[in-house]
Order: sequence, then structure tokens, then C-alpha cells
Amino acid sequence: MAYSLLHLLFISVITFLLISPSISHHCSYPSGPNVTGGCSHLPSLKASFDWAYTATNTTLSITFTAPLASPHGWVSWGINPNGTGMIGTEALIAFKDTNGSLVVKKYNLNSYKSVVETDRFTYKVLDSKAKYSNNVMKILATLVLPAQMTTVNQVWQVGPAVKDGRPMMHKLDPDNMKSKGTLNLATTSGGDENNATAPSPAGGVGQSGNKSGGSSTIWSNYSIFYVFVMFLGVLFF
Ligand SMILES: *[C@@H]1O[C@H](CO)[C@@H](O)[C@H](O)[C@H]1NC(C)=O
Ligand SMILES: *[C@@H]1O[C@H](CO)[C@@H](O)[C@H](O)[C@H]1NC(C)=O
Ligand SMILES: *[C@@H]1O[C@H](CO)[C@@H](O)[C@H](O)[C@H]1NC(C)=O
Ligand SMILES: *[C@@H]1O[C@H](CO)[C@@H](O)[C@H](O)[C@H]1NC(C)=O
Ligand SMILES: *[C@@H]1O[C@H](CO)[C@@H](O)[C@H](O)[C@H]1NC(C)=O
Repeated sequence: MAYSLLHLLFISVITFLLISPSISHHCSYPSGPNVTGGCSHLPSLKASFDWAYTATNTTLSITFTAPLASPHGWVSWGINPNGTGMIGTEALIAFKDTNGSLVVKKYNLNSYKSVVETDRFTYKVLDSKAKYSNNVMKILATLVLPAQMTTVNQVWQVGPAVKDGRPMMHKLDPDNMKSKGTLNLATTSGGDENNATAPSPAGGVGQSGNKSGGSSTIWSNYSIFYVFVMFLGVLFF
């Protein structure tokens, strides 16, 4: 019994390694009376997301992992405190800086014309760092969330280049367009690697976490996002 379970696990792990090296990762299950957490494969960009949340001090630890879009690209993960999609997102962006060291910088994606580095977010970043290996970039961070933020609208992205220390616009492929979701901090998602906390499509979900509202408004968010990306292009090039 134990042997065959191990065997099955081994085969699953190997299969994962073969299919997508980028998303194989270790998941440590959070535990404790006031701790929730999980590990998931995000539904786009071959990204994965591990998290642990301590309710008593509203501390969220995250590991975001994604393959780079190109060797000198960037990866990003962020929280939209007041809505869904890119606009309003407070994003951590990891890349290799001009002097060659890996950095994680904070950006406010506040409006179409304002994508600015900041040192202030709605949530507090206690620490953050990037790790790189085999074309895969990780963002590890410890955040303190506002107490009322029990549902997190998360947004993630990868981009092809960094120029003069600034992340350049990402692609407009469908995979790039659907990189957003909702994370419910109240519920531990076990460790089911395939299902787990893979967020539901975030269109129209809002802070309520109401999943059924998802599909009806996703297209309008989609076009807003598209416009946003166009503006980003204008801004950066
Ligand atoms: C868990 O939360 C409850 C209610 O806030 C608190 O009374 C308890 O001390 C907490 N336990 C731990 C281990 O922090
Ligand atoms: C929050 O509580 C957990 C569990 O007690 C602890 O490990 C962690 O260091 C705390 N975080 C902060 C920022 O105080
Ligand atoms: C979110 O809304 C709050 C309250 O309306 C506001 O203070 C805060 O600046 C907003 N955050 C962002 C990133 O827009
Ligand atoms: C690169 O610059 C950052 C600050 O911008 C600094 O913290 C870091 O140590 C520098 N790395 C190297 C290798 O010089
Ligand atoms: C997997 O996710 C789907 C959609 O969120 C859910 O309906 C289903 O119950 C989940 N399955 C497991 C085993 O968690």
C-alpha cells in the first residue's frame, strides 16, 4: 500500500518534471490553529503559487514561481486591493537589475499612464527576494495584509525584457490576458497540486469572493486590460 502510493507519487513527480520543469516545486503544508495555506498551479503562464497565511497577525508568505519569457525578462506577482485585473494592482516585479543583481521592486499600476516604482503599498512588504535557476524565477515575500483583506485579488505576469532598470511591456497572448484570480485566505487548500488554490477567473469577483459572478464580466475586464497594456506600450517605447 505504502509502496504503491509512493510509486504513484514518484511517477506523478517525474511526469511533472517532464511536462513542465518550471512548475515542479516543493510544497510545505502550513499548519497551526490560525494558519491557512496551499500550493497551486496557476491557470496561466506555467506559474505556481505557494502561500501560508497567519490570521492572528494577518501575515501572508508567498512564493511565486514562473518561467521567464526570455533570458532577460521579468516576472511579477501582485495584489489588487480595490478591484480585479491590472489597474490598481500593487505589484512585486523581479528581474536582473542593471548591475547584474536580482531585485524585487514595488510598482503601483494605478492608472493607464502611471506605472511607477513605489515604496508604499496598501499591504506591507516585510521582506522580499528573487531567486533564479534554469530560466525559472521565483519571488519570495512576506507581507502583512490589511485585516479586512480576507480575499486577495491576485495578478501575475511575465515579460520579455528590462531596459534601463524598467520592466518592458509583456505579450498580449491569451495566457498573458488571463493572469488573475482570487485567493481565499480563510480556506486551506490541502496540497492537491492540480486543483488546490488555482484561483477562479477573477472577472467580476471583487472582494466578495462570489465565484458565480465570474464569467459574465470577464470580457469587459479583458478589454480594459487590453487598453491598459496598449498604454503600457506607449509608456515604455
Ligand atoms: C488563534 O486565534 C484565536 C482567536 O483569535 C486565539 O484565541 C488563539 O490564541 C490563536 N492561537 C494561536 C496559536 O495563535
Ligand atoms: C505571525 O505569526 C506567526 C505565527 O505565530 C509567526 O511565525 C510570524 O513570525 C508572525 N509574523 C509577524 C510579522 O509577526
Ligand atoms: C484602495 O481604496 C482605499 C480606500 O478607498 C484607498 O485608500 C486606497 O488608496 C486604494 N488603493 C489603491 C491601490 O488604489
Ligand atoms: C546592485 O544595486 C543594488 C542597489 O540598486 C545593490 O543593493 C546591490 O548590492 C548591487 N549589486 C551589485 C552586485 O553591485
Ligand atoms: C477542484 O476545483 C473545482 C473547481 O473549483 C471544484 O469544483 C472541485 O471540487 C475541486 N476538486 C477537489 C478534489 O478539490
